[in-house]
Formats: sequence, structure tokens, C-alpha cells
Amino acid sequence: MKLTYSSFYERSIKDPEGFWAEQANLIDWHKPYDQVLDYAKPPFANWFVGGLTNLCHNAVDRHLAQRGAQTALVAVSTETDQERVYTFKELHAEVNRMAAILLSNGVKKGDRVLIYMPMIAEACFAMLACVRIGAIHSVVFGGFASHSLASRIDDATPTMVITAEAGMRVGKAVLYKPLLDEAIQLARFKPKHVLIVNRGLADFVRVPGRDLDYADERQKQMNANVPVEWVDSTHTSYILYTSGTTGKPKGVQRDTAGLAVSLVASMRYIFCGNPGETMFTTSDIGWVVGHSYIIYGPLLNGMATIMYEGTPLRPDAGIWWKLVEKYKVSLMFTAPTAVRVLKKQDPTFLSQYDISSLRTLFLAGEPLDEPTATWIHKAIDKKVVDNYWQTETGWPILAIQHGVEPMPHKFGSPGVPVYGYKMKLLNEITGEELGANQKGVVAIEGPLPPGCMQTVWGDDARYVKTYWNSIPGKMVYSTFDWAIKDDDGYFFILGRTDDVINVAGHRLGTREIEESISSHANVAEVAVVGIEDQLKGQVAIGFVIPKDASNVIQLEAEIMKTVDSQLGAVARPARVYIVTALPKTRSGKIVRRALQAVAEGRDPGDISTMEDQSVLAQIKTVITK
Ligand code: PRX
Repeated sequence: MKLTYSSFYERSIKDPEGFWAEQANLIDWHKPYDQVLDYAKPPFANWFVGGLTNLCHNAVDRHLAQRGAQTALVAVSTETDQERVYTFKELHAEVNRMAAILLSNGVKKGDRVLIYMPMIAEACFAMLACVRIGAIHSVVFGGFASHSLASRIDDATPTMVITAEAGMRVGKAVLYKPLLDEAIQLARFKPKHVLIVNRGLADFVRVPGRDLDYADERQKQMNANVPVEWVDSTHTSYILYTSGTTGKPKGVQRDTAGLAVSLVASMRYIFCGNPGETMFTTSDIGWVVGHSYIIYGPLLNGMATIMYEGTPLRPDAGIWWKLVEKYKVSLMFTAPTAVRVLKKQDPTFLSQYDISSLRTLFLAGEPLDEPTATWIHKAIDKKVVDNYWQTETGWPILAIQHGVEPMPHKFGSPGVPVYGYKMKLLNEITGEELGANQKGVVAIEGPLPPGCMQTVWGDDARYVKTYWNSIPGKMVYSTFDWAIKDDDGYFFILGRTDDVINVAGHRLGTREIEESISSHANVAEVAVVGIEDQLKGQVAIGFVIPKDASNVIQLEAEIMKTVDSQLGAVARPARVYIVTALPKTRSGKIVRRALQAVAEGRDPGDISTMEDQSVLAQIKTVITK
């Protein structure tokens, strides 16, 4: 019988236990679960309670019999001109070695391991080795610098940190090890060991007793055979930090079985990938797209995955399509920003390679504008599928689910609610449910489906308060995104309701950037907002009131340097304007909304609550100067 979206979706909402029990058959269990869902303490949902399984077993070991000799991982670096290919059997051997290194250096089940690495194969080995032994990984994006890293070290308290001495970007070594050393100095918590993959790209200093060399350790474990640790379904597999309204990043904590089941199911119903095929996701392992669709999703599904160190433009703008041809890629996943970058290049790069293996290009992470969608669709003549989700959910919330029913796409909309998500559009003040064509907050009624966050690491109260208590009178999960829904039930995302900005698909908190800028000695007050940008979707803009106004010639450059060294260049504001006042309400709250409007050249709207309405005029003058 042919599936229809409406019956599939409805079943997932009306009979979640029956629905997810069927999906649970897509993975291997060491011991079957006793209960599909335990929702005795809302909003905490425990899926597949009583079951025992293992992510690494499901991603690697279970494919050995049938596809041991097939490619599992291709690690390509156009920066170092290396391509390394691992079959499932070879990946299994490397993961066993890495797991043995962890165990022999005191990492135990439940311990945290922080991974701060470039896009190299060893990063994949490290993630899989952690889950093999039941350790919890926390991957920190390589673009983050020492302060960001230190706050994550203090929150996750990792027994071990795994790093490389350097990555490469646009032909230049990007140093990791010195930033990590600085972060450990800054952090209150001190990891016992730092395991370093030495790529021979840069010199670095070793801390005796603490630092371990990966090549030496690996040599000791060449024949390692580490049995998988069967863990409870609800055992934490990883923590991934993400930005929110406060300066303190939240550790999104995920389980084991729910993650495995949700990702394999998504490979079937949303991504339509088949075992033995290849997926190329251009994100980074430091982001959720990297966790779900570079590492776990494809491997759990018996597919090969490509890890890519490099930009879409080097050695030229044809590189992605060259890889598609070479590795017969079936599915690609990237962010709209990357497509906008390609759009500026010579279009002949797109037609130089045979990309007949490619079926679909998936795009997510930021709004997909119509010109970008149309351009890429025409340029490659493939299906282009937008999908909307968050670090917190781990897999798509809104999409056209081609594996269920290939419904028509509508420009500007990521599609309709994905099975498992009880989606609501709510008025943010009254909590009232809205009908078609009314703007509201995208909310999800509990229980969240498998694979979504369990809680905020170490802070259940923060999880409940932040996500479930933000809409008056209702305990519902808030996505903090605005949207409208049309008469056919298609959602259109209209931007964040909070202070999170999205720069080139990278989610950043303006408060974190403000805190970093505030640490500059000559900054009295600061406000950071995100403004529209043609290429990156949004960029951060800072407004600073200096303490000493006579000494500001270098201030913008110095502030950028401060942000670079504390948070990383990814968080650096595009401009920092030096001003004498910031728009505030009578109670002293900075009106960021008005600042953003002025910086985007828009009318700031109702400013009657503002204490001094002339401030905006002054700011306009500074911007247009
Ligand atoms: O604002 C939404 C935007 O990115 C946020 C989540 O970012 P992150 O946690 O990094 O997870 C990215 C996973 C793909 C959302 O709250 N966003 C994500 N996808 C889309 C989007 N906005 C519009 N369209 C999308 N397809």
C-alpha cells in the first residue's frame, strides 16, 4: 500500500508508541526494551526504556558481515591534498584502536571526552570510540577559541580532550593545540589527558604527563579488540553546546537508542538514502548537522560518508561536484550560505563533472531564499529539499518527507511537520493557538519524539525553564522561531524570537559576543544585534559606548581581535560602531529590536517606550557616516 503523508503523520501523533516501536526495528538491540515511552515526568521523555544497545555497534559492527569491504568513510582534505578511504572493516579497526587508547588512559563509561578537532578521520574515530565504550563525547567546533572552549570544559568536566595540533584553512595552518592549552589554563577544571593527533602542520609544546601522542598510543593498540559496552537506551551519548539567550551556552544532552532510531528513520523517510550509497554533508562535526548527517545518520544506515576539510572554492568552485563524481555521491547536504557562495562563481564549474549519481541536495540551518533555491535547482537539475530543525531536536522538524509522500514544494517553506512532532503555532503572549496565516511561535507539544534533547547537561531546571515555560499558561516546547502556516499546512519560518543569530548557518548568541566585547578595557556598554546580509544570511554588528571617548581610533579593530581570541573569528562582528548612547527603555533595557531596524535601514516602529528617542537618530548618523 502506498504511504500518504497525512496517514503516516497522524499515526505518529495518535499512536506514538506503536509508530516508534515499528521504527525501533531498524536498529540492533542487545536486549529489547520493556516500554516504548515513559512520560511519567513531563516534559522529560524516556524512549525505549529497559533496552540495551550501542551506537557504535549500530553504526559500524552490524554492517561488517554484509559490507565489511565497502567504503564507510572518505576523509578528503583539499587543504593538505589528502584523501583517505576506510572500509567498514578498516573503520572498525581504527575505532577499536581509539577505544583502547581511551580505556588504557582511564576513560570510563559515563566519562566525558571533549573533541576539539578539524575535519579529519580521527575525529570520526574518536566520536565512535567514545560511544563504543559508553563515554560521552562533546565536540566543540574548531572555529571556537579559548574562552568558548574553557566554558565548555568547565561545564562538561571531561576526563580527556582529543585534539590535533592544527587544521588548515585556505592554505594556512589554524592552530588548535595552543588555543586548547590556553583554554585549559583558563578553565577551573583540568582534564587528566590531552590526546594529540600530530598532522605535522605546526610545531607545538607538549605538557609532560598530561599530553599523549596519538600515533604512539595507536601503535600500542594495533590489534585492539574492544567489546562494545551495551548501554541503556537512555544512556547519554553526547553533549553538544549551543547558544541561547544568556551568555552561557547550553549543553544539549542526547540519549542513545532514541538518537539511533530517529536518525535511521530519518534516512529512510526524509533523506531517502540506501545502504551502500554515499552521503556528502558539508557541515562540520562541531555542529549538529555534522553529528547527525556526517557521522551517525549515514553510518547507522550502512552508507558511506564524506568528511571534507576545505572550502567550496579551493582549488576551484568545482571541487564539490568533483567529489560527487569521484565517490558517486547520492545525497548532499549543505547550508544556503554555501550555495550563495557558489552562485557568485563561474557557472561552468557546475557542468564539468558527471553528477548523475546525485539524487537530492538537502539544505538547512538558515532560511532558504527563493533566488538561491531556484538557482541551484536549475544549475544542477536535482531535487532541492529544504529542512528546518535545531541542535535541540537533532533531526528535521519540518520537511517534505519524500520517503513518505513526495508532496509538492513551496518556495520559502521548509514544508510540513515531520512525523512525531506535534507542531503548534502559538501567540507568544496569550499562548493561544493560531490558525492559518497568523504569525506565531513554533512550539511542539510533548512528548518530544525520540532523538530530541533529553535535558540541558547538568541542569534539568534550566531545560524546563528555558524550553518549556516560555509560553504563558502552556507547557510546550518552544523553538524560539517565528512562523506562519498557510492554508495547506506549510510552515514559513520568519526568524528567531530570541537573541540568537544565524551567521552563514552558524548559530551564535549575541549575549556571548557582548560578554566578550565587554571584557575590553575601554568598553563601558555594548549591544550586539544580527542584521541581514546578502551572502551570510545575517552578520553580527556591535554598538559600543567607550569608557574613554578620546581613545577610540583603534577600538573597533581591538574589539574584533578580542572576539577573535576569546570566541573565534566565527563570532567576530562585521562592524563595531562607537556611539555615545544606546536606545533604552525607561527601565534601562537596551532595545535591540530598534538597533537592528536602524542598522538594516528600516523604520524602528513603535519607539514610544524609549527613554530618549533622539538616540536612534544619532546612531543612524554614525552608521551612515
Ligand atoms: O532559526 C532556525 C534556523 O536555525 C536554528 C537552529 O540552528 P541550529 O541549532 O544550529 O540547528 C541547525 C540544524 C539544521 C533554528 O531555530 N533554521 C534551521 N533550519 C532552517 C532554519 N531557518 C529557516 N529555514 C531552515 N530550513
